Amino acid sequence: MKDNIKAAPITNLGSSKKLDRLMISESAPFHIREAFKTIRTNLLFTLATKESKTFAVASAMPNEGKSTTAANLSVVLAQTGAQVLLMDCDFRKPSVHRLFRLSADKGLTSILCGIDKIEEALNENVVPNLDIITAGPMSPNPSELLGSSRMAELLSIVQKAYDYVVIDASPINIVSDAVIIAKQTAGVVLVTRQGQSRHDQLQKAIESCKFAEVDILGIVLNESKGANSHYYGYRYNQQEKDK
Ligand SMILES: Nc1ncnc2c1ncn2[C@@H]1O[C@H](COP(=O)(O)OP(=O)(O)OP(=O)(O)O)[C@@H](O)[C@H]1O
Ligand SMILES: [Mg+2]
Repeated sequence: MKDNIKAAPITNLGSSKKLDRLMISESAPFHIREAFKTIRTNLLFTLATKESKTFAVASAMPNEGKSTTAANLSVVLAQTGAQVLLMDCDFRKPSVHRLFRLSADKGLTSILCGIDKIEEALNENVVPNLDIITAGPMSPNPSELLGSSRMAELLSIVQKAYDYVVIDASPINIVSDAVIIAKQTAGVVLVTRQGQSRHDQLQKAIESCKFAEVDILGIVLNESKGANSHYYGYRYNQQEKDK
């Protein structure tokens, strides 16, 4: 399906090493891997009614688990055999390259600035069926880049080439970047973190999405401490992994 984008094979660490910083690595507890599969199932049902299979993972505030969710979700989607692309669109605090031990020298910013072609910045089969475009070198004008016609063009190319495109975005209440990018996709998966996220902040993020007419595809409750949460949405929990 992605024959129109061909990258050089990656020469760095193998798949198992790539996964060792993720929650769904083979050493992760069964219930965590299952929780991500549940998120995947719910998301696939939601996306089934959408034309675009591209979505952003965002949250109201920093540090709520956006990148962790985007990375793990990308891997479980790729495990279905679908061709998946993960793009780091958090230009202010990129982290996908660290999670997967990739170089950040080439990436989205260098593609959007015209320095690199997509295939030059694409990390192919980082884990089977999952390609990754890191954020690339730091840019002084992230919002302008994300809202540029080059970004729209890039999204249109990758949406045709992949079954799913997962976008790791910035905090909605801090900068407008997440909404700018999510508006060009099927919608946003909102991540909240138990014991950290505040109701008013989540409400503000939801209102920003509504105002911009960005669909909320679901809410992930990260680090869920129990089943009695009043939040609607998907849940996953890393408690037992840390014991
Ligand atoms: N369920 C969890 N259990 C334990 N640690 C977690 C969990 N989710 C995230 N973390 C850790 O919390 C930190 C922040 O997570 P992450 O980078 O995914 O958040 P983020 O929302 O992308 O942050 P930023 O706003 O900086 O981009 C990381 O060190 C991550 O490993
Ligand atoms: Mg992040």
